[in-house]
Amino acid sequence: MIDLPHLYSGKVRDIYDAGDGTLLMVTSDRISAFDVVMAEPIPNKGRVLTATSAFWFEQVADIVGSHLIATEMDGLPDDMAGRVMVCRKAEMLPIECIVRGYITGSAWKEYKKDGTMHGSPLPADLLESSQLPEPVFTPSTKAEIGDHDENISFDDAVALIGKELATQARDVSLEVYRRGAALAAERGIVIADTKFELGVVDGQLILCDEVLTPDSSRFWPADQWLPGSTPPSFDKQPVRDYLESLGWNKQPPPPPLPAEVVAATSNRYTEAYERLSGRRLADWPGAS
Ligand SMILES: Nc1ncnc2c1ncn2[C@@H]1O[C@H](COP(=O)(O)OP(=O)(O)O)[C@@H](O)[C@H]1O
Ligand SMILES: [Mg+2]
Repeated sequence: MIDLPHLYSGKVRDIYDAGDGTLLMVTSDRISAFDVVMAEPIPNKGRVLTATSAFWFEQVADIVGSHLIATEMDGLPDDMAGRVMVCRKAEMLPIECIVRGYITGSAWKEYKKDGTMHGSPLPADLLESSQLPEPVFTPSTKAEIGDHDENISFDDAVALIGKELATQARDVSLEVYRRGAALAAERGIVIADTKFELGVVDGQLILCDEVLTPDSSRFWPADQWLPGSTPPSFDKQPVRDYLESLGWNKQPPPPPLPAEVVAATSNRYTEAYERLSGRRLADWPGAS
């Protein structure tokens, strides 16, 4: 147990007040598939998300500051080693800063129907999973628990947070995505799209939450990307394939995951981190 005031638990993280304007974010090994959280934890997943975010915060520090202060704290239970972040508490923007380099998911659905993406026209000849002519900032609202986020236009974002902040958020998001996608491409991973959460501390816009992780992004194996089809997920595909093989109706409670599926998924998360960062997860605190 942690002897700090508990503020919030999301799908993946537990957040505590660490005093003096700081938060302790503890990342669990929970995994969701088709929007349902599975019963089995994925070993090391919380460490992979934490280590991956820490890696990217460093890589993009010249573009934008981050909320990260430390990835360790005295007095925590041993099992939390490697999956905590002490952060500056920010005033979070009420939008999700999504960048899309490839068209898939909800953007593909809209394009197929209307030929647009978040309301803006796109070339007529795109296939599912095509690379976009250039990465696009496609924000969404942050839904209340239980609702789905709603895709919005840049002008809608301006109406919500003002022109100056919206423009800054867009520029920072695009630059961080470009940096990350270029590095990932060299290492055989396509970052199809990603979601950033930005916040303001002392009047400065900073990168918060997690950054360019398998949970906040779609990672595809570059050698399996084929426009006109849905590429496999680099990290979650074993879970998805297993669930699809059962014909589960995607409503809770989820079916139990076999040990092989859990192990295969854990290995994929580890591989994503090691490939992107060029570092070994075994060198990260607490990793097994
Ligand atoms: N530096 C920060 N200051 C304040 N809130 C933050 C900061 N970084 C992340 N958050 C918020 O903490 C929560 C992270 O928990 P998570 O389990 O990922 O939640 P969710 O299920 O809403 O994604 C999110 O609501 C996110 O907006
Ligand atoms: Mg989150």
